[in-house]
Amino acid sequence: MSDLQTPVATLSAQAETELEAGRALQALVHLEHALAAWPEQSSLIVMRGRALRMLGRLHEAIDCHSKALTVDPRAAMAYAERARVRQELGEEEAALADYQAAVALAPDRHDWLLALAVLLADRGHRDAAREALLRAGALGAPSEHVRFLLASLGAVPPPPALPGDYVRTLFDAYAPRFERHLTRRLHYRAPQYLADAVLPLLGTRRWQIVDLGCGTGLMGGLLRPSAERLEGVDLSAGMIAQARARGLYDSLHVGDLVAFLHARSQRYDVCIAADVFVYLGDLAPVFAALRAALRPEGIAAFTVEALDEGEYRLQPTRRYAHSRRYVEALALAHGFAPSGITRRVLRRDGGSDVSGYVAVFRRRPTMRR
Ligand SMILES: C[S@@+](CC[C@H](N)C(=O)[O-])C[C@H]1O[C@@H](n2cnc3c(N)ncnc32)[C@H](O)[C@@H]1O
Repeated sequence: MSDLQTPVATLSAQAETELEAGRALQALVHLEHALAAWPEQSSLIVMRGRALRMLGRLHEAIDCHSKALTVDPRAAMAYAERARVRQELGEEEAALADYQAAVALAPDRHDWLLALAVLLADRGHRDAAREALLRAGALGAPSEHVRFLLASLGAVPPPPALPGDYVRTLFDAYAPRFERHLTRRLHYRAPQYLADAVLPLLGTRRWQIVDLGCGTGLMGGLLRPSAERLEGVDLSAGMIAQARARGLYDSLHVGDLVAFLHARSQRYDVCIAADVFVYLGDLAPVFAALRAALRPEGIAAFTVEALDEGEYRLQPTRRYAHSRRYVEALALAHGFAPSGITRRVLRRDGGSDVSGYVAVFRRRPTMRR
């Protein structure tokens, strides 16, 4: 059978398979054929919009979803997809309106309710955000997810870390535009500050280094010249794929950094984490893992967002902040000596500076009381 005779339903299923596998270009080919035969089919137009979003063609994606809505004004999926694109474009007010329309048409979609709650919280509509979260919970949204979002609103006590699924999904979706967004829009400086603090300690020798929560590899680029072997670990396969494309790392692993470190006893001279511990509240398990994976005199270096009182707090930004006193006390308790903590502006967020600590510790050869 030639492509032109292939039933639309088959082409649409093939496009869906390609989209699920992240092959947006191949999906577009199937969709162009299907739309040639059935140009007014809103679900096909929405799928085309999804493919265009995945390819970073965001304005074309918006046009697609708007067209789907002229064809079928009740196409809830078109609203939700357009909301997602608008969010990526930083058009939060328009994204909020689209999610509200999507949820009004499909009130049982708890995933859209969660997305709506996040936008409501970010726009300062805390009561409406809480209500959306409670509705999402009642409809079966993952309870861990609902609980941590409620905690970010101060409605319940915070969990010790953000749910791994949340972090993974967030960064898988963010991966293609992460660097552009962080370096251009948010003036992200954490890797450079860490490099400034650590590289002078490394001299001209080359070391065994691991980049924890390596993301797309911004930190790895700065560490490579000092590394005999450079490894990276990250929860998000999407971020790891970007890091792999850079060709900087000797090995890359998808997984949780704490479990990863425990499986690699005394392997590293340097463990470094740029803007990663903001997704972990209780850092005691992290310090225990750093102690296990570092060689005697090895270096642990990381950034955290600054908290002026208490130990750690889940902020409305859904990131944790840690106090200097908390970090220092934990380091001491786990056999680390301070090698320098400085306060810096790590990046911008919502028009304000985000202040944090660039912390460097050395692992003592033995634990001291
Ligand atoms: C803001 S990005 C920073 C990426 C990179 N370090 C940089 O500076 O460009 C945070 C990264 O930490 C990863 N991450 C968060 N929690 C993690 C965990 N428990 N284990 C491994 N990776 C984690 C995320 O998937 C994400 O890629």
